[in-house]
Amino acid sequence: MPGRELTPDELLTTTRTVRKRLDLDRPVPMELIRECLEIALQAPSGSNLQTWHWLVLTDPDQRAAIGELYRRAVENYLASAGAAGKLFADDPQRSKVQTRVGDSVAYLGDRMGQVPVLVIPCLTVDTLPEGNQAGLWGSLLPAVWSFMLAARARGLGTAWTTLHMQYEQEAQEILGLPANVRQAALIPTAFTIGTDFKPAPRQPLEDVLHLDRW
Ligand SMILES: Cc1cc2nc3c(=O)[nH]c(=O)nc-3n(C[C@H](O)[C@H](O)[C@H](O)COP(=O)(O)O)c2cc1C
Repeated sequence: MPGRELTPDELLTTTRTVRKRLDLDRPVPMELIRECLEIALQAPSGSNLQTWHWLVLTDPDQRAAIGELYRRAVENYLASAGAAGKLFADDPQRSKVQTRVGDSVAYLGDRMGQVPVLVIPCLTVDTLPEGNQAGLWGSLLPAVWSFMLAARARGLGTAWTTLHMQYEQEAQEILGLPANVRQAALIPTAFTIGTDFKPAPRQPLEDVLHLDRW
């Protein structure tokens, strides 16, 4: 647990993407993961369909297999022009943060398979809609964020990751997923090393707020 109970605003503003401060050596009781998932299930879903499924990987071989896919995906990502560390190079302030993110992505890339618990939120859908998918993913992603917030409240750190989706089919086979089950993310979950996390610098609200029309 964090040193003291976080207020709702503290929880919402300090739930960071944790990579280097995931404790790879401390086991995570399954009961804690279940508590976080029970909370996640309280999230909204379109028509209350609750088409979500949650794969929780604790088996070392399964984690290693998914971790290896993730490592390969991170390698491709870091070599690409869109890698976090290469963005906003002409803005010294933003570039510093981006370089830090890039380093941290590389660190987790090498260790994903060693994180004690990997959570893969999924949803069932026969065919992905061609058009707007807001209703589809919007029926899962709030629950994933609830899981991450509940984890933080219990001293666990998480990171929203999606890079392994480059190898979605291979992951599908490792996990034994039926064809109508789609993955949304890969969330490494572990106790954090220390519990003090801070609000992050963000671009100003004024740049993105539109009143009444664009
Ligand atoms: C849709 C989405 C995909 C992401 N994919 C990855 C990923 O594959 N690997 C990773 O290390 N971080 C990933 N992130 C985390 C972002 O890099 C992170 O949220 C961002 O740098 C801001 O940091 P913060 O969450 O600590 O505020 C992803 C975040 C989102 C929302």
